Parts: sequence; structure tokens; C-alpha cells
Amino acid sequence: MSESKLNVGIIGATGYVGQRFVTLLENHPWFSVAKLAASANSAGKTYEESVRNRFKLELPIPEYVKNMPVYDIAETAEFCDGLDFVFCAVNMRKGEIRVLEEKIAKLEVPVVSNNSAFREREDVPIIIPEINPEHSKIIEVQRKNWGTKRGFIAAKPNCSIQSYVPALTPLRSYGIDKISVCTYQAISGAGKVLADTPEILGNVVPFIGGEEEKSESEPLKVWGTLTGEAIVSAKDIAISAQCYRVPVQEGHTAAVSVTFNNKITKGKIINIWESYVPEIYKYKLPSAPKKFLTYLDKDNRPQPLLDANIGNGMGISIGRLREDNIFDYKFACLSHNTIRGAAGGAVLTAELLKVQGYL
Ligand SMILES: NC(=O)c1ccc[n+]([C@@H]2O[C@H](COP(=O)([O-])OP(=O)(O)OC[C@H]3O[C@@H](n4cnc5c(N)ncnc54)[C@H](OP(=O)(O)O)[C@@H]3O)[C@@H](O)[C@H]2O)c1
Repeated sequence: MSESKLNVGIIGATGYVGQRFVTLLENHPWFSVAKLAASANSAGKTYEESVRNRFKLELPIPEYVKNMPVYDIAETAEFCDGLDFVFCAVNMRKGEIRVLEEKIAKLEVPVVSNNSAFREREDVPIIIPEINPEHSKIIEVQRKNWGTKRGFIAAKPNCSIQSYVPALTPLRSYGIDKISVCTYQAISGAGKVLADTPEILGNVVPFIGGEEEKSESEPLKVWGTLTGEAIVSAKDIAISAQCYRVPVQEGHTAAVSVTFNNKITKGKIINIWESYVPEIYKYKLPSAPKKFLTYLDKDNRPQPLLDANIGNGMGISIGRLREDNIFDYKFACLSHNTIRGAAGGAVLTAELLKVQGYL
């Protein structure tokens, strides 16, 4: 255990998102990975043994985790002992995840969650640090509701919304009325690699379970208002989403059409994107990209292979802004789903929660 850094546990450490966590947290200036957990199948092995032949990233397994033991998360109290907080990214049933995360919060260990189990709860914030950092205040209400002093759950939103919500947020002052979005989502979003998924090669699957509903509702919560007791979702914007699985390894693309209540020019929109400096940049958080939004001028960008890693996978790239025949404008945008949309977004959220005094 570290005395100078916060000791963090990773639950689901052997999975795709968990593998991103162990690589992103190597040499993190504020957080030290103290414990790893997964299912009973991985427990009792070292991390290296448990992910041998299934380490999915293009990177080597970091040396610092190779010999760490993997705990069975069913032994929750033993795992949580000595931890300052946990990241949780598990492939379990929603009901099981709810029981697990609530148990951890009630053991007074904060949970920064990649899972959707609690995202709909009014006292659980879903945070994109550059967009709604103030929503963390609801943690005080949540602690009262759970009866905890330190423990809470803060969630990261669904990966699919993290390209178009960042692009649309700075345009909200022009009165966004309607959004139609189609997402083209990478296979890593299902925890898989292309080589193990022959059915997606040369193919497009027009269905990802539960994804369209989350893509339509979660942006409204991110843009929601904090009242004394709840986060109330925005009601003034209509969103229609279609979500497709495509043969891409990393990077979720979104094709967006949008109508505004007030007039805005193309030049103004690009200028707003290019000059946007999120409020949290004042904190100089270690995982924040130098530039949050980047407009790419070439007609054939953004592309997952060329642009998903912008800002170390934490930046959002946007392109092809043009007028539309039905809506006002349409454009494309892209984010790295397992970094910005999963582990990296969660690490940035934890950094924010630390400077805000919640961790
Ligand atoms: N992939 C993405 O881009 C992405 C983005 C945002 C959010 N998420 C969310 O993050 C979570 C994990 O996704 P993933 O893609 O990393 O999935 P994954 O690769 O399938 O990994 C699943 C992890 O969950 C563990 N697990 C499965 N059943 C368990 C059980 N009964 N008890 C304890 N641990 C169990 C696995 O452990 P074993 O190895 O021991 O089986 C593994 O560590 C999901 O909720 C997903 O929706 C994923």
C-alpha cells in the first residue's frame, strides 16, 4: 500500500476496460493500484497468469501488475480492506452489479463505476468532467441516502455518448432543439477484439442491446440540473439515436444532425469548438487532454484508425460540419471508447473527485 498516493482497487481488472485501467494507471501521480479483482475464475492466480492469452491491448502487460494476485470480488470486504476507492468495470447482470456496488459504498469505499447499473438513480452523478463537474455535489445527498460517511457511487456515462455530447455541449447556448444521431461503434465496446469476432468482419450489425435507450436518455442527465435532492434531466431537447456495431477495433464514431432555436453560422460553430476551454482545466488534472475538442478540416476525417488516439485517447475529434436539408447542420465526431469512453474517462473523473475533496 502506498502512503503518499490514494490506494485504488480495480474490479474487473482482467477485462478489456480493466486492462486499460492497469495500463493507464502505471506511474499515475496521484493513484497507486493496490489490489485487483475479477470473478472466481481468475481469483487465486497472478494477474499475468489470469490474462495470459487474453490480454487484448496493443501494449505489453505492465511489469508492476504482473505478479499481483487477483482477488475474487465475491470476497468483497477482504478486497476493499485498505483501499481508498475502487474503479469497477464488470460484465455481470445489472442486479448483481447493483448489489456489489452498493455493498462497496456501504463499506465506506467510494466506487467510480463504468457500469450502467446505477446511472438512472437521481442521486448518482454521471460525470464527463469537462461538461458537468458540478454534478458531483449530489454525492452529499447520496451519502445521506445510503447512510455513509465516505462511500458513494459516481458513474461514467455510456461510451457511445462521449463523442457527440462533448461536441454539442458548447453549442447549447444557441438552444439545441432536436438531435438525430447514428453511432458506429467499435467491437472493443463489447469487450472483444476483431480477431476473435469473425462475424463482424465485412459486416455491420444494426443492434446493440440497450444502447439506443442509453444514447437518448444519458445526455439529458449529463445536461441536467442539480436541485437540492436530485439531478433532474434536461427536458428541452429531443434525441433520436441509432446504434450500429461496425468492424472497427477502437473508436466510436457518431453522425449527428442538429436543429437550433437560434441562428448560428458554420464559422461560429467551428470557432466555438476550437476555442472551447472546459472549466476543469483550471485544476490541471493529470489525465485531461491538452485540447478537449479538435475540428479536423479534411473532408474524410475523423477516422478511427487516424484520430481515435487524439489527446492520448482522451480528446474528441469532429469534422464534416455542413448544412442539412431537414435539420440545421450535420457533422461527424469520434471518441476512443475504451479510453475516453471507459477507463480514461473514469480516471479523469476520479482526479476531479479528488480535487473536489470527495476521495
Ligand atoms: N468496452 C468498452 O468500451 C466499455 C465502455 C464503457 C463501459 N463499459 C462497461 O464496462 C464493463 C466491463 O466491460 P468490458 O468490456 O471490460 O467487459 P469484459 O472484457 O467482458 O470484462 C469483464 C470483467 O468482468 C469480470 N466478471 C465477469 N463476471 C464476473 C462475476 N460474476 N464476478 C466478478 N467479475 C466478473 C471479468 O472477470 P473474469 O476475467 O474473471 O471473467 C472481467 O474482469 C461493462 O459494464 C461495460 O458495459 C465498457
